[in-house]
Amino acid sequence: MKILVTGGLGFIGSHTVVELQNEGFEVVIIDDLSNSSMDVLEGITAITGVKPHFEQLDLKDRSKVEDFFATHKDIAGIIHFAASKAVGESVQNPLKYYENNINTLVYILKELGKLQQQNFIFSSSCTVYGQADELPITENAPVKPAESPYGNTKQIGEEIIRDTCKVNPELKGIALRYFNPIGAHPTAEIGELPKGVPQNLVPFITQTAMGLREQLSVFGDDYPTEDGTCVRDYIHVVDLAKAHVVALQRLLQGKNKSNYEVFNLGTGKGSSVLEAIQSFEKVSGQQLNYKIADRRAGDVIAAYADTDKANDVLGWRTELTLDDAMASAWKWEQKIRRK
Ligand code: UD1
Repeated sequence: MKILVTGGLGFIGSHTVVELQNEGFEVVIIDDLSNSSMDVLEGITAITGVKPHFEQLDLKDRSKVEDFFATHKDIAGIIHFAASKAVGESVQNPLKYYENNINTLVYILKELGKLQQQNFIFSSSCTVYGQADELPITENAPVKPAESPYGNTKQIGEEIIRDTCKVNPELKGIALRYFNPIGAHPTAEIGELPKGVPQNLVPFITQTAMGLREQLSVFGDDYPTEDGTCVRDYIHVVDLAKAHVVALQRLLQGKNKSNYEVFNLGTGKGSSVLEAIQSFEKVSGQQLNYKIADRRAGDVIAAYADTDKANDVLGWRTELTLDDAMASAWKWEQKIRRK
């Protein structure tokens, strides 16, 4: 069965391609290589023994997108990762984000509407909840006004899919709201490759330990949490990737309860920034150079998932721990710097 993975050479996309191939799916990747590299294709091939079909394609190029779908009418499902994801950049350049994340979604949904099988999985984010009033966060928690154009593209993206599902009963969509994906494949063949200075915590930790960054700044220690630092739900990217396969199978087997569904993907466990650092120090045997700094604008105090719906309805649960994720991120960081 042929599955299209957009952004399939990116961080979460590449791990999902591996899990799809492990389950016997035939994968076609499209990626514009704007935030990825061809080495990732080699990594996927090294892990699975199968080289997925790859086409370099900019989804903003509508006629190329139409041509692509005209030659792949047998696609049985699409997992749509391709998007820009730097929160700060989205504030500086909102139109880039609306064009990259929204225009392309519309083009893909139009093409999907022409296919025999219209199964669609969308990468959304816990960012849609903002600072939730209640923890853990269920899928029924209200969507709060977005803090950034990036966050807004996830909210608008969900609305576009939901509205399209309402008028097209053939279309089956699932939005997956990720908490904080971290880690790398245990083989260290693929992992996260941030361009420039990492904005996210774990790549900043591993780059600091590697000597690429002088010191990690912990953004705030005066939050109303146990140790004063922000709390997040860090989920191993391999667990997250597997959830995509389960969600896709749900649609392919017609097990979905309505033609638009939303699931949180997290571990259900909140960890503070200091706990994340401790986990890294434990598994790496390295002492991390860090200091307490000012709060970062836009950070929520605490966010972790209520995983009941994903556990009960999808029948998926995480298997890997924060320590597993940190160990894999560290192994990956060491491998890419040795090259
Ligand atoms: C961020 C985005 C979120 C996006 C997600 C994608 C913001 C405000 N939020 O989530 O919209 O969906 O990335 O991966 O940018 N931290 C430090 N020092 C650092 C980096 C981070 O202390 O150098 C702290 C942050 O304050 C936060 C935690 O580490 O408490 C996690 O940060 P990060 O990895 O950037 O993820 P989020 O902010 O949760």
